[in-house]
Amino acid sequence: MIKTNTDFLNERLEERRENGLMRNLVDKGHLVDFCSNDYLGMAQSEAFKQLIDQKLAQYSPARVGATGSRLISGNFAYTEELEQKMAVFHGAETGLIFNSGYDANLGVFASLARRGDTMITDELIHASIIDGVRLTHAKRLRFRHNNLADLEKKLRVAEGNIFVGVESVYSMDGDIAPLAEIADLCDQYNAHLIVDEAHATGVFGAQGEGLVQSEGLQNKVLARIHTFGKALGSHGAVVLGSKALRDYLVNFARSFVYTTALPMHSLIAMEASYELFPTLHQARTHLSNLIRVFQNTMRKTAHYEVLPSPSPIQGVIVPGNAKAKALSQQIEEAGFYVKAILSPTVPAGQERLRICLHAFNTETELDQLIKIINV
Ligand SMILES: Cc1ncc(COP(=O)(O)O)c(C=O)c1O
Repeated sequence: MIKTNTDFLNERLEERRENGLMRNLVDKGHLVDFCSNDYLGMAQSEAFKQLIDQKLAQYSPARVGATGSRLISGNFAYTEELEQKMAVFHGAETGLIFNSGYDANLGVFASLARRGDTMITDELIHASIIDGVRLTHAKRLRFRHNNLADLEKKLRVAEGNIFVGVESVYSMDGDIAPLAEIADLCDQYNAHLIVDEAHATGVFGAQGEGLVQSEGLQNKVLARIHTFGKALGSHGAVVLGSKALRDYLVNFARSFVYTTALPMHSLIAMEASYELFPTLHQARTHLSNLIRVFQNTMRKTAHYEVLPSPSPIQGVIVPGNAKAKALSQQIEEAGFYVKAILSPTVPAGQERLRICLHAFNTETELDQLIKIINV
């Protein structure tokens, strides 16, 4: 029996419950997946699993755990060769693996800007970037989502070393940043651009290389963050950039320095993933077809506004927390898993269904889902 008084915890939880915002851990694995980040179906791919098994047998790692942080005992020739392979694939000078995308963003954003510098981010940036920025002593500015004029306004008043942080594909709205224009503005104001490619990796570009590279902007970006837990079907992240950036992060990114490195099993999964996802052309084609079908059908028939999105993340605006929750419940009862995103996570009136499309979803499933939404 725990003796400490936990009333203060229960009070806060009760407040959440009363606001209809209580979070609970759930397992919805039995439902048709219109929710996960497994855009290419890699996490459930037999070919991927077999490739990992094959590599595990080939390398037969001597240890299960990495035994320490990268700077102490957890660094191996294999890790650095893998980072170099990733860098070559993405047209970068170097790569540095982090334990997760969250860790990568925390490390990059918290370490780069110092007192007297300025960190400017899009207002819809992911929580991992918000948390990283919060840890800096730099001046922090936000610009209106994808709004170049507002970004320029912020650049004009920025001081010291200036950093601009954006996502290439936004995790809530599924829309895309005007990267070329943002890069030009950064050039003009001598600012350093950082791009989180979490939701573009594996999905955008002829080989799934992401949007920075497919738009030929790799030399205009200080750092790119690619994560492996979404379309790449495993876990972890790589930060791509110059040799100086890699050396800097090895020295100053606390989420890199003060944590045990990933086990070999995870690294092997990453290597297998990089061998497989560039070849998944059919999966990417099917996925972009589903995206087109969803956008076109919803525009013609929807009771609800659908956000314009060329990515697997689709937002259907269902104003009001109660209404959005009720509709997601109805969808679940029909056997599909779709997440309702409520305020204050999104502004009141912008509550929505966040639908993720995948290469393993069929047109029939999509059709059924659209019908339920539009009843
Ligand atoms: C845009 C973005 N960046 C970073 C992350 C964090 O990545 P990871 O899940 O690998 O920690 C996420 C995932 O939730 C994300 O959506």
